[in-house]
Amino acid sequence: MARKPLIAGNWKMNETIGEAVVLAQEISNEMEPDWLDDVDVAVCPPFTDLKPVYTVFEFDKLGVGVGAQNVYWEPSGAYTGEISVPMIREIGCSYCIVGHSERRQYFGETNEDVNKKVCALLSDRTQPIDPIVCVGESLAVREEGSYIGFVDDQVRAAFAGVDAEAAKSAVVAYEPVWAIGTGRTATPEQAQEVCGAIRETLAVLFGQVAAASIRVLYGGSMNEGNAELLLAQPDIDGGLIGGASLKARSFVQIVKAAL
Ligand code: 13P
Repeated sequence: MARKPLIAGNWKMNETIGEAVVLAQEISNEMEPDWLDDVDVAVCPPFTDLKPVYTVFEFDKLGVGVGAQNVYWEPSGAYTGEISVPMIREIGCSYCIVGHSERRQYFGETNEDVNKKVCALLSDRTQPIDPIVCVGESLAVREEGSYIGFVDDQVRAAFAGVDAEAAKSAVVAYEPVWAIGTGRTATPEQAQEVCGAIRETLAVLFGQVAAASIRVLYGGSMNEGNAELLLAQPDIDGGLIGGASLKARSFVQIVKAAL
């Protein structure tokens, strides 16, 4: 089954509401609506920007999705500072990044936390929010050579207790930590090796059919110059873009490379 590519922008902790609306409008202006027949596009701004950005695309009748960068697994309650799945659903999110390496590194997120978030997102599919599950090794693990096993462990932990039907809605993003924000992109071969291994792990967990339908993205210093070769790899079904997603023209060029 051919997988529809997904190009998702992770804006990280950038853009105030005013700036976010301008950026979303610029992206909207640069995009041709019929591209979305062949590529899914989403942006993941900070929580405070979600509704304003959603409204820009809604007003323009452009089917660009909006995603959160994180979520908490309980639906409500005394969890000061957290945001729940029903809250981001009401805003209109169709994606949610889970387990980004910055959350693991700076906020102590564990594989178990990631699994709870994935399960919370996949448990109610009435108005689906697809998790974009981030995995990837540090430079030390890469140099030591055990990166395939490391990423395999992260994937297995993230999907513990998830059944094949639910897993089909998930997206996995391979983001080697050494390539994030460093300008040091993985080569297409390096990225393909791990994305292919991720799909093999998904096949072991969920069977070949489900594994063939789950999108695996690459992320880490992806830009308009290197996107085409990365996206040409058989197991790379799109990109999760950080820095380059903050410039409308660069982001839209990456979208075009996925067509
Ligand atoms: P950069 O594209 O800035 O390297 O960030 C990648 C990333 O972390 C996306 O989630």
